[in-house]
Amino acid sequence: MPSPFGLLAELTYACPLHCAYCSNPLNLTDYRDELGTDQWLGVMAEARELGVLQLHLSGGEPLQRHDIVEIVRGATELGLYSNLITSALGLSRRRAEQLAEAGLGHVQISIQAADEAGSDRIAGTRSFERKLTAARLVKDLGWPLTLNVVLHRQNIDQVTEILHLAEKLRADRVELANTQYYGWALHNRGALLPSRPQVERAETAVRAERERLRGQMDVVYVLPDYYSQYPKPCMGGWAQLELTVAPNGDVLPCPAAHTLPLPRASVHEASLAWIWQESPLFQRFRGTEWMPEPCRSCARREIDFGGCRCQAFELTGDPARTDPVCVLSPDHEIVAEAVRAANEAERPAAEEFTPRPHPGRPV
Ligand code: SF4
Ligand code: FES
Repeated sequence: MPSPFGLLAELTYACPLHCAYCSNPLNLTDYRDELGTDQWLGVMAEARELGVLQLHLSGGEPLQRHDIVEIVRGATELGLYSNLITSALGLSRRRAEQLAEAGLGHVQISIQAADEAGSDRIAGTRSFERKLTAARLVKDLGWPLTLNVVLHRQNIDQVTEILHLAEKLRADRVELANTQYYGWALHNRGALLPSRPQVERAETAVRAERERLRGQMDVVYVLPDYYSQYPKPCMGGWAQLELTVAPNGDVLPCPAAHTLPLPRASVHEASLAWIWQESPLFQRFRGTEWMPEPCRSCARREIDFGGCRCQAFELTGDPARTDPVCVLSPDHEIVAEAVRAANEAERPAAEEFTPRPHPGRPV
């Protein structure tokens, strides 16, 4: 049994942004009862016992929690390395200094495009300038800074400008991650899936910039899996490396698994150790025994583990099927059809995606 390396603590789904590619649950009413401070401290202690070393504080927007400093301090006392994953809205100098004093190890800020109008339009709210101010603050306080940019049809032509912006902000690392089509992002797929020429231009631009920035900034570029022959090993394999705890205490093998028709696991009902080691949810797709053909007899089955269970479910209604991204999948036509549409269509008008319409707090 592997030990989990990381805990993704989704502290709240409350969020000031309305990103068109959001993958958080559509129904936030299930998450109204958020874990309290002591419950989070307990979850982190159990995670540390299990072997977790890295804590990713996420959401929603984790800075919407009034107790974020206390949670970070608790993590530091447990010996966890903590990473704040934030839109940066709410990162005032005073709050940042408190977080630094509490031992926060790393900050990851999302930006949505290289320019103010584009970034604010995709985020669904004015935020770009505040993000840049917060990014400068992060560097002033001596933290390592990662910028995370979710790429799609409406910003992928800007990768060079995005990397120039990251350089100006003295980011240590940039993650250029193509959109994963779950939840609200799947709803907007027609407006978000890039064309093949866009993907090829982006790859060329990233390669050139990565070379230029070698030794100064790490550039991580995650290929869009709709354009790959084979799927990615999602999460490094089901329940292999990391666990996620949702705001209401649900424990998940990946952040999107709340969509799957599987038995629940919750910190209210069981220990994290039992959930990780024995729960039906975590056991369901571990290893290779569960696999159908063509995965079962495929030479790549321990490389990609049959791809993403959440994507298989979103696209076929059955989480146990081969990820339709795979060219060997009997359902591959679903992905091929979306790719054909993305390459036939004229570039959709800017208004064609729907910003995520959720309230600031779960209701
Ligand atoms: Fe991966 Fe399954 Fe496709 Fe083989 S058939 S490449 S194991 S998804
Ligand atoms: Fe859930 Fe890939 S996101 S298995």
